[in-house]
Amino acid sequence: MRNKPWAKPELESSPFYIDDPFHKGEWHQMFERTQPLYLELGCGKGNFVAVHAARHPEINYLGMDLKSLVLASACRHAKAAFAAVDRPIDNLLFTPYDIERILDVMDERDCVDKIYINFCNPWPKERQHKKRLTHPRQLERYKKLLKPGGQIEFKTDDDGLFADSIQYFKDSGFTITFLTYDLHQSDFQDNVMTEHEEKFTAQNIPIKMLCAVWDQDS
Ligand SMILES: C[S@@+](CC[C@H](N)C(=O)[O-])C[C@H]1O[C@@H](n2cnc3c(N)ncnc32)[C@H](O)[C@@H]1O
Repeated sequence: MRNKPWAKPELESSPFYIDDPFHKGEWHQMFERTQPLYLELGCGKGNFVAVHAARHPEINYLGMDLKSLVLASACRHAKAAFAAVDRPIDNLLFTPYDIERILDVMDERDCVDKIYINFCNPWPKERQHKKRLTHPRQLERYKKLLKPGGQIEFKTDDDGLFADSIQYFKDSGFTITFLTYDLHQSDFQDNVMTEHEEKFTAQNIPIKMLCAVWDQDS
């Protein structure tokens, strides 16, 4: 936190920042209200999840990222997004953890309704593919958290990652219910831009997106 001396004190004073992520099976109780739980993996500076949470008090949101430093920026975005709607931050939490080990900190009792994966690292070299957050190894982990009928929404700028991910979702038994190669020209409603989405859009790179449903009975 050397370059952001404000980060540590701000994290420590943010009740919606949970420094200890080990609440397996208890995430619903961590919120003020019991209601659907949406999870953003690799939320980065957090604008996306903050704006969604401010718009949707009827849903609980958890933003997870490896780096607590970026979560300090996420906490700032949360304060701004909730100030804009004049609401207390009562349906949003951030916690730091390595998503490759997500089953250390969450399980089926956390019963997640939706997972967002936005602009994850494409890991282009074949030997690195296993580290992709959409790799089948990860999808198998997410299946253990998702409730039946739970969804994953995935956005990326990267053509190779997107093509491979379509196959990953199909091979892992998900049903793809929405797919676009140019999100901003599509009829998808309620899109919120992430920090990386703003950057790639400014470079005229089309945003690819898919929604996939996990229904273990189908
Ligand atoms: C390219 S950034 C995208 C950030 C944000 N979702 C956006 O669209 O602007 C990827 C983020 O994922 C996080 N990340 C990458 N691998 C991770 C992992 N294994 N566990 C947790 N976070 C991870 C990084 O720290 C970074 O903040």
